[in-house]
Amino acid sequence: MLQRSVDFIREKIGDFVPEIGIVLGSGLGELADENCEIAIPYSEIPGFEASTVSGHKSRLVFAEINGKKVVMMQGRFHYYEGHPIQKVVFPIKVMKKLGVKTVMLTNAAGGVNAAFNPSDLMIITDHINHMNVNPLIGPNDDTMGDRFPDMSEVYSPELVELTKKTAAKLGIDVQEGVYMALTGPSYETPAEVRMARIVGADAVGMSTVPEAIVAKWAGMDVIGISCICNSAAGVSTVALSHSDVIHAASVAKERFKVLVKEVVHALG
Ligand code: HPA
Repeated sequence: MLQRSVDFIREKIGDFVPEIGIVLGSGLGELADENCEIAIPYSEIPGFEASTVSGHKSRLVFAEINGKKVVMMQGRFHYYEGHPIQKVVFPIKVMKKLGVKTVMLTNAAGGVNAAFNPSDLMIITDHINHMNVNPLIGPNDDTMGDRFPDMSEVYSPELVELTKKTAAKLGIDVQEGVYMALTGPSYETPAEVRMARIVGADAVGMSTVPEAIVAKWAGMDVIGISCICNSAAGVSTVALSHSDVIHAASVAKERFKVLVKEVVHALG
């Protein structure tokens, strides 16, 4: 199925070889509207599913941004949608086969660190997989990566530095921290958020970690950026809602787009 998917996409994009893959999280998809040369709906691509989450557009977008060839996922597959975890990470494997060297994973997340404010951007320095599932379970494709891949530095320290420097140059304040993934779709309880803080998380969310594991396994460099859309349950005094999350992402999106484009520019 992977090869079928890659062949199908190659037929559409011809000799366009993307070097950077960007997964656009909830409310952050505009980058792909504004920079779109070729768009392929997920519904047409073998092995892809349709994303069912509002705020996600469900297409693969190819474009040149700041001189770099980029493939963007406008909407991702979440485990909580009921997709098997292999479907969630399938596009990351496709990106690898298409030639992508660096993957930027973005998401909407809840702030666990009390110093974070809604609409802050957080550079992910590490993650905690609390989804109780690993996307590498099953037969290992040795041509793509090792059976027991090292996860000491999933988010390349050089690229964390580069992203921080780029943000500073642009005058964009960024936070940095550890992202913990839970399956969702229910938001966390205050007790779960306390647990997340105690074990070292700064933000909680429902995506990114499976994709990061597969990208690292397949030998790609990974950058993670969270949009802290709300204070997580218990940190916040109000009930959480998806519309508030989308609103906070819309407040952050201009800064987010500028940062992502400039990081793309700065990548070697
Ligand atoms: N928790 C989990 N995922 C999220 C949150 C949250 O508070 N906000 C946005 N995505």
